[in-house]
Amino acid sequence: MPLMHWSPNLSVGVEFMDTEHQQLMQLVNQLHDELTAGREGQVVPALEALLRATREHFENEERTMADAGYRHLEQHKRLHDALLDELEEFRDRTADEDWQPGTELSDFLKDWLLEHILESDKHLGGFIEGVGARV
Ligand SMILES: [Fe+2]
Ligand SMILES: [Fe+2]
Repeated sequence: MPLMHWSPNLSVGVEFMDTEHQQLMQLVNQLHDELTAGREGQVVPALEALLRATREHFENEERTMADAGYRHLEQHKRLHDALLDELEEFRDRTADEDWQPGTELSDFLKDWLLEHILESDKHLGGFIEGVGARV
């Protein structure tokens, strides 16, 4: 059972953001499957893939914010940076001898992504749509 499902209410009205959010959700589902199945050797590759896609997505959003003169850029970027720190910390913890796969990370990621998309990214999406409408 996939952990996360896309639904139209998650759309932020900006195509590249919606596409990338769907990709991130797939990668969270992949990671969740590896954690649930206890496939320890697959957890780090799944996590690395998610980290790469997340960094790229955040960079794309931050470039968009800068280009559009979005005044909440710093605040939004702080949320992105905090998540990347959490993901890196978790990746480092998998190297500990007593580390055991569990779904705390994927459950946390699900909540984080949904909240971030519905609050911060929707706010950004609305701003970008407004900029487009004025051009
Ligand atoms: Fe986003
Ligand atoms: Fe964001």
